[in-house]
Amino acid sequence: MAAILGIETSCDETSVAIVDDGRRVRCNLTATQFDLHAKYGGVVPEIASRAHIERLDALVAEAMGQAGCMPADVDGIAVTSGPGLIGSLLVGVTAAKTLAWSWEKPLLGVDHIHAHATSAAIDLAEEPWPAAALVVSGGHTSLLLVRDYDDISLLGSTIDDAAGEAFDKVASILGLGFPGGPIVDQRARRGNPQAVSFPRTMLSGDSLDFSFSGLKTAVLYYVHGPGKTAGGLEGLSEGRIDDICASFSAAVTGVLIEKTLAAAGRSGVRTIVVGGGVAANSMLRARLASRCQASGLALHLTPMAYCTDNAAMIASLGHHLLRRGHHDDLGLVARASA
Ligand code: KG4
Ligand code: ZN
Repeated sequence: MAAILGIETSCDETSVAIVDDGRRVRCNLTATQFDLHAKYGGVVPEIASRAHIERLDALVAEAMGQAGCMPADVDGIAVTSGPGLIGSLLVGVTAAKTLAWSWEKPLLGVDHIHAHATSAAIDLAEEPWPAAALVVSGGHTSLLLVRDYDDISLLGSTIDDAAGEAFDKVASILGLGFPGGPIVDQRARRGNPQAVSFPRTMLSGDSLDFSFSGLKTAVLYYVHGPGKTAGGLEGLSEGRIDDICASFSAAVTGVLIEKTLAAAGRSGVRTIVVGGGVAANSMLRARLASRCQASGLALHLTPMAYCTDNAAMIASLGHHLLRRGHHDDLGLVARASA
């Protein structure tokens, strides 16, 4: 049995987990910074990195206590080394290096997107690879082909907004608050997804890239009038806002689902996995499940607890990579881009 301590600080969640054998999550603690950023309508990088510094040590101690672990029980340290906010990543990477050095443990930097792409496997009895992986979050929207934990290739990604970012911006256009994804999701359940025909940008015929900025602008002009960016919200009834949320969600999820099925078809795989914060979206979950069932594809949706940023997925992927002989030394660097 191998216990891996995972650390995730790539954006605005400070998270520490201890996971046995890549799948038994002994603890997964996340200190959210939601209240610190909410009033700015988005994550402020400087505030995020300062908060990670203030919280990380105590969270490691709490996780070790909850899991009943002494340093001698830990077999390796896995940390998100990118992509993400550079200041935030540096806090986690520096802490992981310090622990690996002082406890004399193997160290591994883990790719945040690869961890989302493999997070659906945490609770599975058998590894689902090869699979097409859809990673949809506030910062990323990517399709990947996962042949194994250390054999992951990028098939496509967003050329502008991430899907979660589009949810957050539409919530802001509609005055619904931040982060918008869960609120738009809830309102969409009460609305008619066919009420408004919003654009579904597919890009060129066989592209597996995404674009959501046109859709966001279409919602903006629908609300305020063509070419206008303000003034239209007061005239909308609550029911109409529900309809806009449902129609917008149908457009986003429609594109995500078509491209994910195309990625699986083109890669010749029969399994789809979905991870990232937007994987919590109820319309995406329901519609993708029925499309996969109709096409005879296996679908593994990441358990809700591991959809948003968390250290369990970092520890889990870290375990599988360490087992396959990958490791870093104290020269490990954080990188902001993919
Ligand atoms: O993976 P995550 O926690 O952080 C990033 O790495 O970005 O994802 C957060 C994103 C936010 O944009 C949030 O609005 C979105 O995921 N989100 C949702 C839902 N829950 C969270 N979007 C749509 N429907 C949801 N239920
Ligand atoms: Zn993420």
